Amino acid sequence: MSESPLYAVFGHPVAHSKSPMIHAGFAAQLGDPVCYEARLAPVDDFPGCWRAFMAEGGLGANVTVPFKQEAAALADRLSERARLAGAVNTLIVTEDNTVVGDNTDGAGLLLDLERLGAPLAGARILVLGAGGAVRGVIDPLLETGPAELVIANRTVEKATALAELFNARGRVCGCGFEAIDGRFDLVINATSASLAGALPPLPETLFNEGALAYDMMYGAAPTVFLEWAQAFGVHCVDGLGMLVGQAAESWYQWRGTRPDTTPVLDALRADLR
Ligand code: ATR
Repeated sequence: MSESPLYAVFGHPVAHSKSPMIHAGFAAQLGDPVCYEARLAPVDDFPGCWRAFMAEGGLGANVTVPFKQEAAALADRLSERARLAGAVNTLIVTEDNTVVGDNTDGAGLLLDLERLGAPLAGARILVLGAGGAVRGVIDPLLETGPAELVIANRTVEKATALAELFNARGRVCGCGFEAIDGRFDLVINATSASLAGALPPLPETLFNEGALAYDMMYGAAPTVFLEWAQAFGVHCVDGLGMLVGQAAESWYQWRGTRPDTTPVLDALRADLR
């Protein structure tokens, strides 16, 4: 067993993960040394790797692609937000060795949006995309009390199904890109179109004055969506802060303390450039 409390990120691939750097930053900031490792699990044996990790005394982990569903399956119980998200990005080993599956992506996004002073309560919010990344953020967004939340997606049925899933929890509707109506205070791009350098077909009348355009993706250069949004003079931010935010929420679940995300985000940004 290592001397410091043991945590890890599991993925395949995992070498690119920024989580070890982020958690090392939190540990240094809070004077709470932990051992946080990147562990490459074979695609067909994440459960075996997790068991070995627990046997070493591992206390918790972040889980990334492609193990988020498998992590939900191996947890003894799920938090409400992991159940709603349909995926687990954080595993927590409790004192009695119960494995809790949690999802901190939505909380991470909210932490970042609050840091940015984003329009939330009473705002018109548009989310682009209806995949796994979106499912975990709908409920936390609805909890902020927007006037309306619209989910727009290339495959319309996925957007309407997702909206239906959450419509007991707030005012939310789903549509295709061509049916986007009116202007928004906050537009969040959660499509993977950015990865391919593509832009969903969006109306030029998308933003209200003072709006925030947010892309869940990040990189050294602005995403295609943010480049497009910049032309309308709105505030543009990428998803690096959401990444640090979800890590901060995982840390809180494990260690019970709340790191200041700003210095860690600044260091990460400098590293990205
Ligand atoms: P993730 O977990 O990152 O959300 P996903 O579940 O595969 O990944 O979802 C990808 C999202 O990006 C989907 O909403 C997808 O639209 P479809 O549901 O129609 O497939 C969206 N997407 C991917 N490429 C796109 C593109 N070129 N234009 C618009 N939307 C795109």
